[in-house]
Amino acid sequence: MPYAHITGWGMSVPPKVLTNDDLSKIVDTNDEWIRDRTGIRQRHIVEDESQSSATLGFEAAFQALRVANLRPSDVDLIICSTSTPEHIFPATACLIQDQLGATRAGAFDLLAACSGFIYALNMGAQAIKSGSAKNVVVVGTETLSRFVDWSDRNTCILFGDGAGAFVLQASDEPGGIYGGVMHSDGSGGDLLTLLGGGSRHPATELTVHTGMHYIHMDGKEVFRFATRVMAQATMDAVAASGWKVEDLSIIIPHQANYRIIDAAARGLKMPIDKFMINLDQYGNTSTASIPIATVEAAQQGRLKKGDKTVFVGFGAGLTWGALAVEWTGPLSTEKSVHPERDRLYGRARSLYRRIVRKIEKIIWGRNE
Ligand code: COA
Repeated sequence: MPYAHITGWGMSVPPKVLTNDDLSKIVDTNDEWIRDRTGIRQRHIVEDESQSSATLGFEAAFQALRVANLRPSDVDLIICSTSTPEHIFPATACLIQDQLGATRAGAFDLLAACSGFIYALNMGAQAIKSGSAKNVVVVGTETLSRFVDWSDRNTCILFGDGAGAFVLQASDEPGGIYGGVMHSDGSGGDLLTLLGGGSRHPATELTVHTGMHYIHMDGKEVFRFATRVMAQATMDAVAASGWKVEDLSIIIPHQANYRIIDAAARGLKMPIDKFMINLDQYGNTSTASIPIATVEAAQQGRLKKGDKTVFVGFGAGLTWGALAVEWTGPLSTEKSVHPERDRLYGRARSLYRRIVRKIEKIIWGRNE
């Protein structure tokens, strides 16, 4: 059975930064309160329509392909985890596939809220281990700022926008993604919701006026749930891989709240500096937070070939999960791989198909 290695990684955040002081001009809050209760100092948010979940996701995915030195046309499968998709359909994964020029890839979205990247990574790894895919791109992307009620200080201080992506590749060399756990408890579904716009509550004047297109949250209950599950899920993923917690060089948790990560560290009896934490810069970017933290850990030299780590997250649903990973790095050093040239070729084919479809429509239209 092949191993599923993480061989490429990338991230993208919009340039616009919203600091705690900026927020204190919009709602009744202040920098000290936000830093003390969450650890967040600032977040990045999208501005105009040129920035979206698909554009951020594409940028992160293409960076990951470059690091992996892999052509878009070599990708077999794209899984996009998001709670803020571009549309209900088509899937954001298909928009990213088109932008990448990944002409051979299957593509679908997966929704497990802030745990989504753990779920998507696990599914990508299973596709590789079962032999049904060799090269998989897993993307986590969010534009939560578009669903935040900017007059609700309980939620608007927490979230930020961004995307992260990994390339997974098959190899017979041991390493990559080992054991993991995925859990859910729908009885807590009402603790963190965005109810409007789905089939139960399609958009109407009433859903707009009653704020159903915004995120709603019982912060205290979510906090309690998160502190209960993080340490246990980490231990379960480690045990499923036949490792010990002491083997871990670093833990990369979902970046929701410094106090939640601190509670997990205490639960695991590990020093907090073993945890990668960058939520001060980005806030909670939901499913994108783990890959963004991973990219920065790799850039800072905190993840080296052979290091053992655990990704652990929790979120709406309720959902939670963890994956144990032995860090690899790029497999291919082949010089003749040109991801950019290959992408342009894929994009040209996409444009050609669009034109053919338009011409066929005109011809058929005349014949009817
Ligand atoms: N600025 C200033 N005061 C605020 C505030 C803000 N942004 N938000 C709430 N407050 C006030 C409350 O109104 C309350 O005032 P009161 O005592 O007069 O009623 C007080 O601060 C304490 O509020 P509380 O909700 O008890 O704070 P908390 O310590 O639970 O922190 C969260 C609130 C949201 C930061 C915390 O509960 C949390 O992080 N929960 C988890 C959320 C999460 O991670 N969600 C995403 C999951 S993926």
